[in-house]
Amino acid sequence: MNQTLERWSSRRAFILAVTGAAVGLGNIWRFPYITGENGGAAFLLLYIAFVVLLGLPVMMAEILIGRAGRRGPMQSLGHLARQAGSSGHWRWLGLFGAFTVFCILSFYSVVSGWSIDFMVNAFSGGFVGKTGPEIGAGFDAFLADPLRMTLNHTLFLVMTMVVVAAGVSKGLERLNNLLMPLLYLLLIVLAGHAATMAGFGPALKWLFTPDFSALTPLVFIHAMGHAFFTLAVGACALMAYGAYMPDHQSLPGAAVAVAVLDVAVALLAGIAIFSVVFTQGMDPAEGPGLVFVTLPVAFADLPGGAFWLGLFFLLLLLATWTSSINLAEPMVATLQGWGLKRRSAALVVGLCVWLVGLLCVLSFSTLSDVYLIGQMTFFGLVSTIPPEVFLPLGGLLIAIFAAWVMPEQEALRALDAGPNGFRLWRAVVRWVSIPLVVVVLVSGLI
Ligand code: PHE
Repeated sequence: MNQTLERWSSRRAFILAVTGAAVGLGNIWRFPYITGENGGAAFLLLYIAFVVLLGLPVMMAEILIGRAGRRGPMQSLGHLARQAGSSGHWRWLGLFGAFTVFCILSFYSVVSGWSIDFMVNAFSGGFVGKTGPEIGAGFDAFLADPLRMTLNHTLFLVMTMVVVAAGVSKGLERLNNLLMPLLYLLLIVLAGHAATMAGFGPALKWLFTPDFSALTPLVFIHAMGHAFFTLAVGACALMAYGAYMPDHQSLPGAAVAVAVLDVAVALLAGIAIFSVVFTQGMDPAEGPGLVFVTLPVAFADLPGGAFWLGLFFLLLLLATWTSSINLAEPMVATLQGWGLKRRSAALVVGLCVWLVGLLCVLSFSTLSDVYLIGQMTFFGLVSTIPPEVFLPLGGLLIAIFAAWVMPEQEALRALDAGPNGFRLWRAVVRWVSIPLVVVVLVSGLI
């Protein structure tokens, strides 16, 4: 990509684009189920601490690099490294990011496909009058049906790659910005509805009364990975957006706005979902199916439940669509940088992701007892290692690059928060974020 002159039209447009990348499955699907698997409140606290101490400063670092480089991730990194008299090999960090998003997209597309199936099922009244256990059994039957799963995975990936190939993501961004407030509103209504359930009190207690004995090094890893994943940080995907950020606006303000919204969406989803879990006597640690089983139950006794449930899955689909476009973009940009046409690049990426996604699909049926590392199926592996190891590793390198390698003047200008703001940010990245990632990664992996 050549040096780009295009810019987001306003600060608001930039914030909304980054929010589009951040808000997705991470908030509504992954947050509740991994909080459930990791014991609730103590995990939640850790995750918020990591958002503040790691996610936010590294998000600023990542966007700042793109903004200073004004090119695709690989090119920005290479260009800025050479400018600083450092090695051009830094550009490989962009490639590592592309590999990370490749792995993530392969399971992301499969799970987003579930929303398509559930949306259709909800709108056609398929959940009406069903009890919790019946809905649970329906979900298990869905997982065990590779054809239905493949169809939805394929549909979602085609939706994503068509937009990426045509390069019209801005149009979708606009649609998304129009509709996302509706998703937030629906989550607020659901959380309000949850307040009338018997399980509301126990859910709040479980979500907000930490039991620190539940914290093991692995829980630290899960929480750190999730902070990176939900903010879309660590894969150079936001770096690409930074390249379009207009001059003369403070980056930290924009990053904080995105993070607050992102955490708020996750909390609302968590409150709504765990209230149902505790009302119905379900298991919070039930795993990746959690949202897909609890929400149909939650909507069942709301007036017009079938319509609202369908609408919810439609909005979730839109939220995941903008995230997956952001996931696909760095790969397509990388292939374009190597001389492929945009459409061919999108086709190649789409086909490769589709194939790896098939292994995720089969992890729930044919390959369900093929374990790779520990007790993990292929789906378990790609939905765990890339978010929890690759993203923090990428984030670490991004932080080192922005706070230690990049020319100081460039970083100062790109952060646009004044000299004191810059010094504060750099001190946090150098002395808090970087050591913290290293300690958590090392202690979790040994
Ligand atoms: N943040 C997105 C979500 O929560 C996932 C994502 C990760 C997007 C990394 C881009 C890069 O769903």
